[in-house]
Amino acid sequence: MIQVKSLYKSFEDKDVLLDINATFNQGKTNLIIGQSGSGKTVFIKCLVGLLKPTKGQILYDNRDFLSMSKNEKKLLRREMGMIFQSAALFDSLSVLENVMFPLDMFSNDTLRDRTRRAQFCLDRVNLLDAQKKFPGEISGGMQKRVAIARAIALNPKYLFCDEPNSGLDPKTSLLIDELIHDITTEYDMTTIINTHDMNSVMGIGESIIYIYQGRKEWEGTKDEIFTATNKRLNDFIFASDLLKKVRNEEINDISANDVDL
Ligand SMILES: Nc1ncnc2c1ncn2[C@@H]1O[C@H](COP(=O)(O)OP(=O)(O)O)[C@@H](O)[C@H]1O
Ligand SMILES: [Mg+2]
Repeated sequence: MIQVKSLYKSFEDKDVLLDINATFNQGKTNLIIGQSGSGKTVFIKCLVGLLKPTKGQILYDNRDFLSMSKNEKKLLRREMGMIFQSAALFDSLSVLENVMFPLDMFSNDTLRDRTRRAQFCLDRVNLLDAQKKFPGEISGGMQKRVAIARAIALNPKYLFCDEPNSGLDPKTSLLIDELIHDITTEYDMTTIINTHDMNSVMGIGESIIYIYQGRKEWEGTKDEIFTATNKRLNDFIFASDLLKKVRNEEINDISANDVDL
């Protein structure tokens, strides 16, 4: 479980995050939603320690991240897996070598054990056959799966995904979402996913927070989101093409019923 208490982040005179309070549960896919520029990436970067919050608290299973020494932070980071939008694979390394990279960096296991672990993770994402290929030789969806395998190589307790579906078609996005959801349950991780994709919200939104201009404006589940009364959240939801479609179908259903009557 990760708890965030009254978190603020400003850049010089620009306030990006304001008084964020949230709890992210273990074994669940916790979604952070909001339109582009609302502060999702800055938030996740604060959580993993890539940015220093202006004030507030971040508790990793009751361990206070921001008051830790450099060394303690370093150790805690090994419990984190990350799939970042910008963190591409290393083009000059094979698929297997990409997944082995964190193991080579952080584990003292033998080459044989590291190879086995990497192959196990690749097998989990159904990519063992592609282990000798290079990132340039595989599809975008496969690259994301390699990134997932790499993120779970060190058996993390916490998994962070920043827009994991960016650049993928809807069908592939769905598969990636399901994969992230399944490994979250399987390894009982606390997973946090930034997204502005309503398909993801409806698929894996077990726990959702909505951020608007750096403030948390709503929290709930995918089942609760449709009855939310927050106007800005509703605008965000119904700006999505998919939701427009669902809404139109409902309207069509109603008019079809009307005709029957
Ligand atoms: N290093 C930075 N310096 C100044 N402003 C930043 C920096 N990083 C992000 N921002 C600003 O913070 C706001 C939120 O950005 P971001 O977290 O990337 O939004 P999102 O991920 O929700 O699209 C934006 O207005 C962005 O310009
Ligand atoms: Mg972002």
